[in-house]
Amino acid sequence: MKKHDLVYLTEDASHDPAIEVINEEAFGPGRFARAAARIREQGPHDRSLSFICADDGETIASVRMTAVTAGSVKGHLLGPLAVRPSHKNKGIGRELVRIAVDAARRRGSEAVILVGDPPYYQPLGFEKVRHGALEFPGPVDPARVLVVPMAPDVHARLAGVIAWRDDGAAPDAGFATRSEAQGAAA
Ligand SMILES: CC(C)(COP(=O)(O)OP(=O)(O)OC[C@H]1O[C@@H](n2cnc3c(N)ncnc32)[C@H](O)[C@@H]1OP(=O)(O)O)[C@@H](O)C(=O)NCCC(=O)NCCS
Repeated sequence: MKKHDLVYLTEDASHDPAIEVINEEAFGPGRFARAAARIREQGPHDRSLSFICADDGETIASVRMTAVTAGSVKGHLLGPLAVRPSHKNKGIGRELVRIAVDAARRRGSEAVILVGDPPYYQPLGFEKVRHGALEFPGPVDPARVLVVPMAPDVHARLAGVIAWRDDGAAPDAGFATRSEAQGAAA
């Protein structure tokens, strides 16, 4: 049996091609239409809070984080999260979520928000957001909007629009909107 040699690394531009393949494989072309992806199109993700997992040097999983304002909460949107089929069910997805949430907490983020399956994320500290509290730039299933609150009154303050936030992170030369890139990864 092949032995896995897993390492978790902060994302950099050299990981982009592999991450594109991983997300295409996991979500297909429809991924750009998702409400969360439309937020990510508004500006670059924060590479310093985004992580990959490599097995023997090959990138096999990725999680990205994007600074957002959600109502009056200055937080981060988690996603996409994807693990190559060859490496599923080894705890890699959960570990990437833990690493990303911890990194955002250390950065002073007020909340980590995502749209995802509650049974997967609730054991990792995510709680349901009040139905309809956040206004996404597209339709979302309100039962799948989740948050890790990391500041006082987060649930009460998650009321209004969720949108990309400029948190002053270093500009990402690799960023292009979908229309500019004609299909590059959000
Ligand atoms: C979802 C995903 C990231 C999980 O990654 P992973 O590394 O395989 O997951 P882990 O090993 O950390 O956890 C595996 C456990 O989660 C469960 N699980 C996986 N996907 C789940 C889901 N959508 N809902 C509930 N549980 C799920 C597995 O059944 C397994 O349960 P077990 O521990 O009781 O056996 C991965 O399957 C994937 O890339 N899927 C396609 C993309 C996707 O759906 N991303 C999430 C968007 S919200």
